Amino acid sequence: MKTIQTIGAVALLCTLGIQAAEMPTAAPKTYPEGEVGRLVKLGEAIMNETDTHPLTKDLVGDKLQCKSCHLKGADGKPGTAKGIGTFIGTATAFPAYSKREKSVQTLQDRINNCFMRSMNGKRPIIDSEASVAMAAYVTWLSEGLPMKMNPKMPCGPYNSQRWAKNSKKFAKIQKKATHKNYLSGKKLYEARCASCHGRNGEGMGTFPPLWGKSADGKWLAYNTGAGMSKLNKGAAWVQSNMPLGQGGTLKDQEAADIMLYVDAQPRADFDLAKGFLPKCEMGYYNSKVLKEHHSVRSNFKALGLDVDKIRGDKVIP
Ligand code: HEC
Ligand code: HEC
Repeated sequence: MKTIQTIGAVALLCTLGIQAAEMPTAAPKTYPEGEVGRLVKLGEAIMNETDTHPLTKDLVGDKLQCKSCHLKGADGKPGTAKGIGTFIGTATAFPAYSKREKSVQTLQDRINNCFMRSMNGKRPIIDSEASVAMAAYVTWLSEGLPMKMNPKMPCGPYNSQRWAKNSKKFAKIQKKATHKNYLSGKKLYEARCASCHGRNGEGMGTFPPLWGKSADGKWLAYNTGAGMSKLNKGAAWVQSNMPLGQGGTLKDQEAADIMLYVDAQPRADFDLAKGFLPKCEMGYYNSKVLKEHHSVRSNFKALGLDVDKIRGDKVIP
């Protein structure tokens, strides 16, 4: 039997909209036997080393790993932390409907969407060992939990409510933003985030980058099609998970302003046509929406904001 740990911060998690006491906070104690176990372990390794792992490095267009956003829990495994973005319970929700793709997505489809967007890369082929291994790892993290396919969003039971509620909350706050909020976000970023992520979002050592390009001109972080690049979704994730080890400590206005600042910095445009591998094999993308383009500017416009007015300059193309 899987141990279900009771979480200390019950009150905090309840305000975030989940049944805290019901949520396991660790991977199962043992790996499955044989080949399945080998694939689960391979998937775990890929999640930790996505941009350098031999099976995935050519598919990644930034300096991130899955565990950069699907954080490690106390058991040291990617995606077991209890904040927004946990993989615990995720596999129970699939196949699940996605409004973005207007189609029913499998877990492998969902993983591929993070490759195209959060990893600024290309979609792994569904039949490849890397793709199966990552899905096997995520599925293992739901062992013993009841299946319940999600007809509304491609999201596990411990994430969907929290995303929905908190993204709405932050959109409401950020729609009213002015240049003052940008300046306040910059100040807060420098005080609370820059010590790990760098003053220019470039990352430091094992602390991942948040925006911009490397000296050799390569994009460092998630692109403008990623959940994190939507300032309201980004704020929901950051409030739940950052600063590292202090998730839940930023006030609503603080998290809103910090991500207004972070997501107003330069990052790669998202063009759906670039996410296919190889480009001609459209069949690999399970979506009814085949045209999609996002930029920093359009992500601000989605909340009724003009990025030039917010920044107070004309740096963003
Ligand atoms: C830059 C941050 C970031 C990185 C890196 C990232 N993801 Fe995600 N991932 C997200 C966000 C944000 C969501 C949910 C929001 C949304 O639906 O847009 C998500 C959702 C998911 C989900 C659905 C989980 C659930 O229960 O809601 C899966 C599965 C997933 N990602 C897999 C991966 C894998 C595998 C990788 C590495 C190849 C990866 N992600 C890398 C940010 C990231
Ligand atoms: C103590 C160091 C530390 C501080 C302070 C910190 N972070 Fe992080 N942050 C991390 C680490 C480490 C990760 C990735 C986790 C991993 O790889 O295990 C991360 C991941 C992230 C990510 C997702 C990955 C990416 O690069 O896009 C975002 C966004 C982020 N942090 C934003 C912030 C913001 C905003 C603040 C300030 C409120 C902040 N962080 C403060 C260490 C820190």
